Amino acid sequence: MITSKTSVVGLIGWPVSHSVSPAMHNAAFAHLGLDWAYLPLPVDLARPDAVVQAVLGLRALGLRGANVTVPHKQAVMSALDRLTPAAQAIGAVNTIFLDQDGALAGDNTDAPGFIADLREHGVAPAGLSVLVLGAGGSARAVVYGLADAGARTIVIANRTVDRAATLAAEFAPHHPGCRISAVDMDNLPAHAPQADLIVNCTALGMTPQVESSPWPEDLAFRPGQIVYDLVYSPRATRFLQQAAAADAHAIGGIGMLVWQGALAFQRWTGEAAPVAVMRQAVDAVQLPAAPEPIHPPFAGRVRRAVADNAAAIAALNRQVQALHAAAVPDFFKPPSATTFPPDFWQERLAEADVVILVAEHEGMVVGYLYADTTPAIETNSTYARPRFYIHHIGVDAAQRERGAGTALIDAAKAFARREGITLLALTTWTFNEQAVRFFTRAGFEVYNYRMWMTI
Ligand SMILES: NC(=O)c1ccc[n+]([C@@H]2O[C@H](COP(=O)([O-])OP(=O)(O)OC[C@H]3O[C@@H](n4cnc5c(N)ncnc54)[C@H](OP(=O)(O)O)[C@@H]3O)[C@@H](O)[C@H]2O)c1
Repeated sequence: MITSKTSVVGLIGWPVSHSVSPAMHNAAFAHLGLDWAYLPLPVDLARPDAVVQAVLGLRALGLRGANVTVPHKQAVMSALDRLTPAAQAIGAVNTIFLDQDGALAGDNTDAPGFIADLREHGVAPAGLSVLVLGAGGSARAVVYGLADAGARTIVIANRTVDRAATLAAEFAPHHPGCRISAVDMDNLPAHAPQADLIVNCTALGMTPQVESSPWPEDLAFRPGQIVYDLVYSPRATRFLQQAAAADAHAIGGIGMLVWQGALAFQRWTGEAAPVAVMRQAVDAVQLPAAPEPIHPPFAGRVRRAVADNAAAIAALNRQVQALHAAAVPDFFKPPSATTFPPDFWQERLAEADVVILVAEHEGMVVGYLYADTTPAIETNSTYARPRFYIHHIGVDAAQRERGAGTALIDAAKAFARREGITLLALTTWTFNEQAVRFFTRAGFEVYNYRMWMTI
């Protein structure tokens, strides 16, 4: 119930009709029983002086503060009585609050909001090498936040390289412990591999341009590299899809949105923000749909292997062995023609307890799974149960991204079920994080180097 006593805050921007901030803040006020309300305050860019008038209007109407979003984050600054050091250094304001003496002050909670979300995802910024894409308002906040939190190097890449160079030149003297430099987008291949963290601060990928991405199609992320997209609408952007397809650690911008809101909330109300409630409110908002997945799903079929498939299985197995050799070169030998040759597979195919499945696409064998169903007591302290024991699984790289590996596991489950076997098991090389991620996503439990799944 809004009355004359209700404290009002709002969002200055253009357009603001799709913003999730009103839902997020009003849920927080309701949760804490605060008589506060958060309103959209659209300020049309076309009206001269509109932003300055809007800020004066906040004071005249007795509002308790406001958020500021695109395109007014810089323009509001001149109308405020004072700026926090962060807002001053970043050169943009996203939060206006009433200071103790009644002055209108401008702060920037995007920078600490971004850092808080990184930390929540287990990423400590100190010592990191970071590649920042973009040099607009949000990039300024991200570079400031990272340099302040102890990042070791920051490379800023932007379409308009002069803008990136200006940003680097402006920030570098204030952060002597952090090497800040600028490059143009064509130089991404030279800088991407060294980056621990890559952050998209461009508007590319945002609704309605959901198919666009700042990342070139032919440039690979490193598995495990941390990839952060400030764009949060849609939630799964093309950039994040590219990162996930390369097994990078992909993080969307929703968390930053929540944290910058939580910090603004604290500025206005003096109360600790109910972050979980704010996140729930944002999660409940329906955002525009994500782009089509990059990799169309596996369109082939899985069947039992026959003797004619032995050579194709041997070739795929060499790929698996080569991955082992590349991961642990001091331990594994690079595969040779004598490593699991076609004869070996022909012999296995003739054994009654062996099950070899192949994934086939357009007449080609693109994956295989080799298992046996021999009843076995593994150790004196483990139970003897009939189990479907997977020795190897190997899938051609292109089909792996489409889910051929998952199709093989599904077929293995179906086979085991038909035979009345309720346990799938395997042993994995623990160094191979990619394999561990694959099997846990498929539903296996991990115990040290053993994995199993009850079906
Ligand atoms: N998650 C959050 O809480 C949060 C907070 C703030 C912002 N954001 C999001 O971050 C994004 C950027 O916001 P901003 O305030 O930084 O915007 P901005 O100040 O307008 O900057 C836009 C940036 O995108 C680049 N860009 C735009 N169109 C491009 C194109 N076609 N090709 C290549 N580069 C292009 C610009 O490059 P040029 O310099 O070459 O024009 C510039 O670096 C927005 O999507 C915004 O919603 C999210």
